[in-house]
Amino acid sequence: MKHMNQEIVEQTEKSYDGVAQGYDDRHDASTNTQKRFWRILRPFSEYSKSAKSILNIGCGTGRVLEMLQNKNAIGIDISKGMLSFAKKKGFCVARADAHQLPFADCSFDLIVAGNGVFSYLNPEIIYDECFRVLADGGILCLHQYPQKIRHLRQLFSAPKTYTTKKYAIGDFDDYVNLATKSGLRLERKFQWRSLRQWPYVLPIYSPAQFLLTTHWVLKFRKPGTRSNLRKSLTWVCPSCFQDLLNDDTSSWQCSSCDKSYPIYQGFSDFGPIFDDEK
Ligand SMILES: C[S@@+](CC[C@H](N)C(=O)[O-])C[C@H]1O[C@@H](n2cnc3c(N)ncnc32)[C@H](O)[C@@H]1O
Ligand SMILES: [Zn+2]
Repeated sequence: MKHMNQEIVEQTEKSYDGVAQGYDDRHDASTNTQKRFWRILRPFSEYSKSAKSILNIGCGTGRVLEMLQNKNAIGIDISKGMLSFAKKKGFCVARADAHQLPFADCSFDLIVAGNGVFSYLNPEIIYDECFRVLADGGILCLHQYPQKIRHLRQLFSAPKTYTTKKYAIGDFDDYVNLATKSGLRLERKFQWRSLRQWPYVLPIYSPAQFLLTTHWVLKFRKPGTRSNLRKSLTWVCPSCFQDLLNDDTSSWQCSSCDKSYPIYQGFSDFGPIFDDEK
């Protein structure tokens, strides 16, 4: 049987491999973009200060990891091209599909995903997977773009809808409902409108929120206290979740199934693994 995400994951990987070269220059080309990025993602760095173990999903070239400056942060991405830049910056990264994380349950007290990563992920799977690897009391913090964005001159007409080949899971309520279904609780939401000029970004409050928002940051929490956070990071086989053995320095071997995972250009390659490969 074909894995339900296979097509999207494969296409996404290919397209990010293709844009990895020069990605940082294009995205941080202007200081306005950088200022906006830092302002909107400030909750990531705030929460990271007290976190003991952080996962950055869809870390790409490491722009969010750079911002966190926390040595307990690890990044995963499916694009080797993007990861090679993050690796050059000295970050701890691995290639993995976010739907099949190579980590034991309760491994992290903070998960962050910046710049719309969740639009590439299957909402029926990703929130359960985050719930699994978060310790009780852990935080999932997402930065997403709404599907419908209104330009100021169109405030009273129909908003422009951005449809993509990715998962179109709708708007704010959908994100919240799906996360809640997995057991996560919404604790805070931040809404922003980008501006071309200073101050580059404006906080948006009700009742204008649905008309004006161009960025959301959502903070979810897994209920409980953090007592079951693992003392050290445990990598597991993303196919069967059993421990991995690292006998030689060039690969990991699963202790239970027959899978092995290469260590490639300094980072481990855990897949994606599709159903027909299992
Ligand atoms: C819009 S980019 C954001 C990159 C980075 N967070 C940043 O802020 O510069 C989305 C990233 O998500 C990664 N991605 C998409 N689908 C993924 C999946 N299934 N598993 C892991 N990473 C994925 C892409 O390869 C890409 O690097
Ligand atoms: Zn295995």
